[in-house]
Amino acid sequence: QRLIVRLLSCPGTVAEDLRRDEQPSGSVETGFEDKIPRKRFSEMQNERREQAQRTVLIHCPEKISENKFLKYLSQHGPINNHFFYESFGLYAVVEFCRKESVGSLQNGTHTPNMAMETAIPFRSRFLSLKLKNQTSEQSCIQSSNQLPPSNRKLFELICYAESIDDQLNTLLKEFQLTEENTKLRYLTCSLIEDIAAAYFPDCVVRPFGSSVNTFGKLGCDLDMFLDLDETRNLSTHKTSGNFLMEFQVKNVPSERIATQKILSVIGECLDHFGPGCVGVQKILNARCPLVRFSHQASGFQCDLTTNNKIALTSSELLYIYGALDSRVRALVFGIRCWARAHSLTSSIPGAWITNFSLTMMVIFFLQRRSPPILPTLDSLKTLADAEDKCIIEGNNCTFVRDLNRIKPSGNTETLELLLKEFFEYFGNFAFNKNSINIRQGREQNKPDSSPLYIQNPFETSLNISKNVSQSQLQKFVDLAQESAWILQQEATHRPSVSSNQPWGLAAILLPSVPNRGSLTKKKRKRSANERVKNLLESLKSNRTANFTETNEK
Ligand code: CTP
Ligand code: MG
Repeated sequence: QRLIVRLLSCPGTVAEDLRRDEQPSGSVETGFEDKIPRKRFSEMQNERREQAQRTVLIHCPEKISENKFLKYLSQHGPINNHFFYESFGLYAVVEFCRKESVGSLQNGTHTPNMAMETAIPFRSRFLSLKLKNQTSEQSCIQSSNQLPPSNRKLFELICYAESIDDQLNTLLKEFQLTEENTKLRYLTCSLIEDIAAAYFPDCVVRPFGSSVNTFGKLGCDLDMFLDLDETRNLSTHKTSGNFLMEFQVKNVPSERIATQKILSVIGECLDHFGPGCVGVQKILNARCPLVRFSHQASGFQCDLTTNNKIALTSSELLYIYGALDSRVRALVFGIRCWARAHSLTSSIPGAWITNFSLTMMVIFFLQRRSPPILPTLDSLKTLADAEDKCIIEGNNCTFVRDLNRIKPSGNTETLELLLKEFFEYFGNFAFNKNSINIRQGREQNKPDSSPLYIQNPFETSLNISKNVSQSQLQKFVDLAQESAWILQQEATHRPSVSSNQPWGLAAILLPSVPNRGSLTKKKRKRSANERVKNLLESLKSNRTANFTETNEK
């Protein structure tokens, strides 16, 4: 009863818990699903960060009673929200209503005594629950899924869809980050922030990239940005009269060296004291120095950078583009899955196209439609007000942040048409002379000889796809032409709904024939035709066996 009273005293709790109870595992409300986020990016980030600060991560025994567990924890204050998930063991994410509850829980927690090893004492919000009596508990936990769907499931879902539009929307629904996965990402950043705070008490660790830009697929990496602005700016608030007080600091010759030094100590700290942080690698000589590690409990591969504010701004820009029209994310997810299925992208860095570049290509393509589906970055800049003005390291990053001030597009093209046209457009794009530029929304002459040139929207002298080799670009072009052709055939030869044949999106996710590069365009078309025919035949007997790996990483 006391628990119920506490839960009721915390707005949203009962409703949230009841809603979860009604839903089967894996189909929890996603936050992005079926509704386009209208919140400002900064508002959303601040809310989620504050939520994460009231949250703890608990490694639980396999057999545990959910009710008793919640009752035990609610001694420290009312719980707003919780969920369980599995990742080499059972974990609980528990969000209290008040931040003080976390302190109270930590005060009642002790550092374990090891028989053979010695524990390095570190008080974090990553805890372990032990049972005094193993046998008395029963497991009745529903755990939330953090993984993308299996190929088999995805294949079945998209083959039974009614249209290509339906297929793309299904793919989006299955792969997008769930509400719970998003919470876990913000919590992981918050846990890392606590560790970095040992050196920089006012630091903020913010997620960026696909974890927050609405284009993240389940299983994608977690990009983190160590923001030291507060630490840097503190002195500006404390001046008076003719006096100006400054901190005594160490100086280094460049911003880059400062970044390397900061990341180096944070890397050491994560390695030595960070609970659950394993495989810490300091990659300090990269163009953008970073610390890479695995956060074992959440299962995320993390990349921590600092002095990288522009990347956070690009994430905000993509968040806005993703929110403007429901077709944008569906098309980007479709293209990302297609690229992954054909090994055009990889989790290993190399000469391949990245997901970030693919997203830019989709945005550019949608700016080129008539009427345009997405506005250019220059027009978003025109809509900006004084509050939106933003200059980072001399780069103008001004654009409108309020989604409600951007007029929706009058374009009504279907996703099916857009998918086909995307392949058609980039299958015939003059990559040899033109660059892609979402700022102006039109092709420009390439400023250098990189095979693929996509202008960085804010650091306009940089090419975000500088790493892409001619052969990888050719592979992309060949596959785009082939997919355009397959979809063209599909328009006239769509199988009946009751047949088990892969069609539409499923057909273009199928593996490719080898040695495609040596084929002429005509032969390629013929070969693709035969390939699809053969695959359809083989899939008829064993529908899913040949389906390619489409999982992200
Ligand atoms: N970024 C950039 N310029 C690049 C590469 C990356 O500005 N050449 C920024 C982008 O804001 C990008 C973020 O860094 O979103 C993270 O990069 P990455 O992890 O490679 O891309 P994601 O968009 O996160 O996609 P993925 O799901 O593949 O991780
Ligand atoms: Mg990423």
